[in-house]
Amino acid sequence: MFLELHNIWRDGFLVCEYFGPTVGFVVGTLSGIRTARILVIAVLEPYRCKGIGTALMSEFTNACGMKGISSIELEVRKSNKGAARFYTKHGYQVIDVLPRFYKDGEDGLKMWRNL
Ligand SMILES: CC(C)(COP(=O)(O)OP(=O)(O)OC[C@H]1O[C@@H](n2cnc3c(N)ncnc32)[C@H](O)[C@@H]1OP(=O)(O)O)[C@@H](O)C(=O)NCCC(=O)NCCS
Repeated sequence: MFLELHNIWRDGFLVCEYFGPTVGFVVGTLSGIRTARILVIAVLEPYRCKGIGTALMSEFTNACGMKGISSIELEVRKSNKGAARFYTKHGYQVIDVLPRFYKDGEDGLKMWRNL
């Protein structure tokens, strides 16, 4: 699945290496004519809250700008307050609640930002 996503839009698939090993990544895809969707962004636990997520997010946003994308959407678990705070800090706002969006029955939050 990751290889397929990489093939579809390689600029929307970014990794962060820290002196060799990969410590974080973001995977986005094109979900509309001028819309991108972040499927996953994650940083290895010991490397969190050091600006790596922000660096990934800003490179991803630049890649979207280069592609002529005008909005970015994503989903996050309702319980994932840390990630929701991270996204809010990067200009995303909650536009919808997605009941039972996840396989375990948890609701999701749909978040969105304009570029
Ligand atoms: C969300 C995530 C990618 C952020 O990456 P990061 O490298 O830690 O982010 P940065 O250091 O650039 O930014 C940190 C900011 O994000 C927010 N944040 C990130 N994780 C947080 C947490 N667990 N609790 C509260 N705020 C958090 C804070 O606002 C923080 O800003 P502050 O330091 O001024 O308080 C990372 O925490 C992560 O991998 N989480 C687990 C995976 C996940 O939930 N991914 C999102 C859903 S797919």
